Amino acid sequence: MSKIRTKKAAKEQEGHRPGEALRVLISHARIQKKVAEMAREIRRDFPMDSLHLIGVLKGSIFFLADLARELGGEVSFDFLGVSSYGKGTDSTGEVKLTKDLDLSIEGLSVLVVEDILDTGLTLKYLLKSFEERKPKHLRVAVLLDKVERRIADVKADYCGFTIPNEFVVGYGLDYDERYRNLPDVCVLQLESRGKT
Ligand code: PRP
Repeated sequence: MSKIRTKKAAKEQEGHRPGEALRVLISHARIQKKVAEMAREIRRDFPMDSLHLIGVLKGSIFFLADLARELGGEVSFDFLGVSSYGKGTDSTGEVKLTKDLDLSIEGLSVLVVEDILDTGLTLKYLLKSFEERKPKHLRVAVLLDKVERRIADVKADYCGFTIPNEFVVGYGLDYDERYRNLPDVCVLQLESRGKT
């Protein structure tokens, strides 16, 4: 085995189940550094505001928790749940609210916090719904952006990493509800899907 192959093999690790392998795409250290940078940028834009973070369940929980602590100043948060139907390119973009916000956002400086922006259909639906509730400001922070998958014409105000169109798990992101607790963002390679 060549030196390069040995190195590559060392970076891949077994997943939870046979046929699943993981490769670190973004390490926890890089995530932490980026989250701190994003928080500084957000606070530069809103130095005096009380920021109301809205986490979209479930993937955003670690990003929201880390971002909230890095932001400093006055911060509150709320969560909502959505489920979308047919995420393929033929998707109608229909999104269903499974859990609404607990609090009114009228007059608040709102920051929607998402783990990943993919087709953009979820965010488009959410922004329309939130705008109707008359916040003072409405901004979006996403950790990961799969730009090439975009269908809806939406973009985040604050973005951590642009990533390729690979199946990613960890730091909140799941495969069949598993892997959310990985500290790194990893590419999940499934034997049945072939090599990435
Ligand atoms: C992910 C993510 C966004 C949505 C983005 O959630 O948290 O809410 O997908 O996809 P889109 O841009 O194509 O609309 P997911 O449906 O995987 O649910 P989860 O957060 O509970 O894992």
